[in-house]
Formats: sequence, C-alpha cells, structure tokens
Amino acid sequence: MSAGKEYKPDTVLDHDFDGIQEYDNRLPNWWLWILWITIVYSLGYWLVFHTYGIAELPVAAYEQEMEETGGSLADLSVRGLTEADLEAMATDLEKLAEGKAIWTTTCQVCHLAEGQGLVGPNLTDDAWIHGGDAVTIHNIVVQGVVERGMAAWGRQLGPDRTDAVVAYLLTMRGTHIEGKAPEGEVIWKREAAAASGGEQLLDTAIEGGAIQIGGMPASAAARFNAARKSSSGRVRAAT
Ligand code: HEC
Repeated sequence: MSAGKEYKPDTVLDHDFDGIQEYDNRLPNWWLWILWITIVYSLGYWLVFHTYGIAELPVAAYEQEMEETGGSLADLSVRGLTEADLEAMATDLEKLAEGKAIWTTTCQVCHLAEGQGLVGPNLTDDAWIHGGDAVTIHNIVVQGVVERGMAAWGRQLGPDRTDAVVAYLLTMRGTHIEGKAPEGEVIWKREAAAASGGEQLLDTAIEGGAIQIGGMPASAAARFNAARKSSSGRVRAAT
C-alpha cells in the first residue's frame, strides 16, 4: 500500500504493464498471521537446532534412534549364537510359546499358520532358498530378502523376539506340511545336518512326550511330533 493516501479497497493503481493493471489492496489478516508466525518459528528453529544445538536435527535423531534399537542389522544377526544355541532355544517351551505368538501376528500372513507357505515359501519341506540351518534362518529373518518381499524383521522385533520366532520356526522344519511346492535348491535334513555338524544329540523336554505349544492346533502338534520322531526322535541341543 502506498503511504499517505487514504485507503480505499479495489482502487486500481495508475500504472499498467502491457495492459495488466493492479489493485493496491491490504493483505488479508490470515495471510499476515501466517507470515509473522513462520518468521518467528524460523528464528526459534534456528536458535534451537543450529545456534544452541538444544535439540537434534532429524538426521542425527534418526541415527541416534537406530543406535538405540540395536546398531546395524549385521550386529543383530545371530550375535555370536551358534547353531547349537539356536537349536537349544527350539526346545525351550517358553521361548516357543512366545515365538508362536509372534509367528501368528507377524509371519503367518505370508507363510501360513503351520509354515506351509503362501506368499512366502513353504518352510516345512526340505528345500530352502537360502539354507535350512538355524544360523542362516536367523540371518534371513533379521536381514530379510527385501527385494523379494521378505522384510528385515530384526529391527522391528528386537533380539529376543527374533530369537523366539526363529526358535518356533525351527520346529516347523521337516514337518512336511502340504502347501506351497518346494522352492530353492538347498536341501536341508536334520539327520544329515547333525551327522555333518558332529553335534551331540541330547534328549530334551520334547523327547517321548507330545509337545503342545500354547494353543497349537492338535493336528499340527501331532504332525510336528510325528516328524520329530521320524527324523531322529531327539533334537540337537547345546553340548
Ligand atoms: C509379506 C510377506 C512375508 C512375511 C510377513 C514374512 N515373510 Fe518370510 N518370506 C517371504 C518371501 C516372499 C520369502 C522368499 C524370499 C526369497 O525368495 O528369497 C520369504 C522367505 C523366508 C525365509 C527363507 C526361506 C528359504 O527357503 O530360505 C524365512 C526363514 C522366512 N521367510 C521367515 C519369516 C519369518 C520368521 C517371518 C515373521 C517374522 C516372515 N518370514 C514373514 C515373505 C514374507
């Protein structure tokens, strides 16, 4: 607005640019408010984030959060756990119950309740895309195969819950539940693994008695126990 003159809305100014003329109207108050608020906000932002560093910039905050949730994915994989440690977890009924709950809410949608496969492969046959040993499975669950539709679950679940769901998954191996056709070239069999790994076979809580994992359907439990018996009757555990 030009100063000194009396303000009259919708007054056309006396200049024109190639036939375009303009009014000299006052800016609406809502517009002025937004202008002043953003100026004040930017000053505050500058002082808080850049001058005094009271709060962390988004990138630093993100990195900090990543650090707190367990470092890199590589650090989360296995964390020094051996094949035998993981196999031993697969005989710990409490871990298995926790793992089953995680399986149901997180994995079942793609691999189905008994691991027979839908979007994801059948995890109950002897064929594996990446490998059926416990360490490989743990790595895959932590790091995922993101480009093929299997997410990296390690960070979302955290170490304990990842271990639990892997333990539960290990009980599905070799149960041969009818479902998705075998995928992958890596053939993994419990007996062969035990023989070549040279790990001692120990009797465990599962031996003899039927295992009932909190709410596992009876049919699945029966198949699971039968498969356990027919493969070795025992499971490998930490020596
Ligand atoms: C959105 C669907 C989806 C979900 C949910 C999902 N997966 Fe998968 N999963 C896949 C796909 C697809 C593959 C095949 C990846 C490939 O081709 O390499 C796969 C592969 C795997 C493999 C490797 C199988 C092999 O033959 O080597 C394992 C182990 C596995 N998933 C475990 C899990 C676990 C445990 C969870 C839950 C924490 C889970 N998956 C959740 C889709 C899923």
